Amino acid sequence: MRIGVLTSGGDCPGLNAVIRSVVHRAVVDHGDEVIGFHDGWRGLLECDYRKLDLDAVGGILARGGTILGSSRVQPAHLRDGVERARGHVADLGLDAIIPIGGEGTLKAANLLSEAGLPIVGVPKTIDNDIASTDVTFGFDTAVGVATEALDRLKTTAESHQRVLIVEVMGRHTGWIALHSGMAAGAHAIVVPERPFDIGELTELVGKRFSAGKRFAIVVVAEGAKPREGSMEFDIGGKDMYGHERFAGVARQLSVELEERLGKEARPVILGHVQRGGTPTAYDRVLATRFGWHAVEAAHRGEFGMMTALRGTDIVMVPLAEAVETLKTVPGERYAEAECVL
Ligand code: F6P
Repeated sequence: MRIGVLTSGGDCPGLNAVIRSVVHRAVVDHGDEVIGFHDGWRGLLECDYRKLDLDAVGGILARGGTILGSSRVQPAHLRDGVERARGHVADLGLDAIIPIGGEGTLKAANLLSEAGLPIVGVPKTIDNDIASTDVTFGFDTAVGVATEALDRLKTTAESHQRVLIVEVMGRHTGWIALHSGMAAGAHAIVVPERPFDIGELTELVGKRFSAGKRFAIVVVAEGAKPREGSMEFDIGGKDMYGHERFAGVARQLSVELEERLGKEARPVILGHVQRGGTPTAYDRVLATRFGWHAVEAAHRGEFGMMTALRGTDIVMVPLAEAVETLKTVPGERYAEAECVL
C-alpha cells in the first residue's frame, strides 16, 4: 500500500507522535510505503512531499510542532482544488491519505472523501472541540501549560492585590478555560458557550475582595463575548482565511473590571505558548493510538472515516458525522466548575 500523510491547520502537541506511529505501523508491520506532504493540503495540491521511513521519524515522539509543517491552505480555496488533489493522488499511486487536523481540515477531508478520494482522518486540536471523539490529543498538554501559568500568576496577583484576567485559547468552545480554571482554582471562568453579564462578573469578583481576599484570577476563553447589551464590546474581525481575529476579550474585561471594582486589573494572554513544546504522556499515547488505528482502517478499506476515542477504546466514526457540529461545554460541566469558584 502507498499512504500519504499530512498535518494541516493550527499545530498541536502530538502531531509528530501520529506521524511516527503511522510510519512504524505501515512500513514495519505492513511493508507499506509512506510519503509526507509538506505544509498540509498545500503539499498535496502542489505535489510537494518527501518519503517517510524509520530514519525520518526517529526521535520525534516528544517533539512539539510537526516535522511536515502545516498551513491553513485548503482544497476549497482553489477553484480546481478537488481535481488537483485527485490528479496528484492518482499520479503518486496513493491508496490512502491520512490528514491530521482540526475542524477545518476534517471538513476538507470530508469534501475530498465525498469526491471519492481514499481518506482516513485523524482529529487533533488543543481546543478539544471535535465532536464524535471524547478527547483530542494536544488538549491535555494545553491544559497543563495553562494551569501552570495560572498557578504562577496567583502569586504575582496576590503581591499586587490585582485582578488578573487570563485569556486562553478556544475560539468557539471553552474546554481549555474550564479545565485549567478548575485545575488551578480560578475565581471566575468565562466561556463562549455562556455569554457573560459584566454586572454578575463584577459582583462575583467583588465578593472575593469584600471577603478580605487580596486578589482574583479570571480565566476567559478568547472567543467569549458579553451578553447582549451588557457592555460595549469589540469582537474584532477575520483573518485572510476567514478565521476570527479577536480584538481581545481579556484586554476589554480588564478595563471594565478595573473601573467597576476600583481594583488594579491586568490582562494576560497566553496565546500560542499553549500549542508549543513537548506533548504530555497522555497526548503521546492517544496520538500514537490514533496513528496505529488510521493505518489499520486504511488496510481494511474503511475510507471516509476518522479515528475517535470513546471511553478507552479507539473506534472509527464517519467524517461526515464528525464535522456536523462542534463539541461545546455542556451546562452541567460548567455547573461543576461554578460550584468551586
Ligand atoms: O488550534 C485552534 C486554535 O488553537 C484556536 O483556539 C485559536 O483561535 C487558533 O488556533 C489560533 O491559531 P492561529 O493563530 O495559528 O491561526
